Amino acid sequence: MNRQDSIRARINRDWDGAPYYAQAEAWLGFFWSPEKPVLKYFKRLDLSRTIELACGHGRHAAQCLDRVGEITLVDVNESNIAHCRQRFAGDARVRYVVNNGHDLADCDTGAHTSLYCYDAMVHFELLDVFDYIREMHRVLVPGGLALLHVSNNMQNPGGFYQQNDRWRNFGSVDVVRHVADRLDMPCIAHEVFDWGGTPKVDGLVLLERRP
Ligand SMILES: C[S@@+](CC[C@H](N)C(=O)[O-])C[C@H]1O[C@@H](n2cnc3c(N)ncnc32)[C@H](O)[C@@H]1O
Repeated sequence: MNRQDSIRARINRDWDGAPYYAQAEAWLGFFWSPEKPVLKYFKRLDLSRTIELACGHGRHAAQCLDRVGEITLVDVNESNIAHCRQRFAGDARVRYVVNNGHDLADCDTGAHTSLYCYDAMVHFELLDVFDYIREMHRVLVPGGLALLHVSNNMQNPGGFYQQNDRWRNFGSVDVVRHVADRLDMPCIAHEVFDWGGTPKVDGLVLLERRP
């Protein structure tokens, strides 16, 4: 296993059965309240055939299920997908994928209208964020949008995310914007914001799949 694979595996294990999920059900305001920065971007997504990347226990899917045509819930942890299968049992709009932590191999090419990822990529290895953006270009229709909550923590390069404030992995909104452009997913809107009192440590990018 190379260094990138072993670090990804450690991160994945941190989120397998974590107490976070039950607590996080009560922390939805930042993403879903009209007064907060995220919802206005989410409203720009075409939810006909959407993907939620790193869905956890499905707290965000539960917020938008009434607005989707179809939603594919993707997570690296089997236990999370098992939880979602129970939570959304019998709902034909919901599909499920356990992935490898850096691609969307089980999602059809050019078949999805949007993708979103909240409170998860902030922890991912930067190389995995880039791998996923490359995959977003593959799975989205031309003009499809991806809304990503990413890390803007440029402290501790080469370190491990648990050493960092708020467990933000090394990342940068501007670097993501630059690389996304080169992967034919240009950034059409972005914002940097504070998280848990740490200034400017997080960001949102809205990427559009170039035709
Ligand atoms: C902090 S939890 C957030 C879960 C969900 N997005 C939410 O807001 O409730 C982080 C999630 O990312 C998933 N995850 C961690 N690394 C991943 C990776 N490389 N690819 C896909 N999912 C990953 C974990 O299994 C977990 O579900």
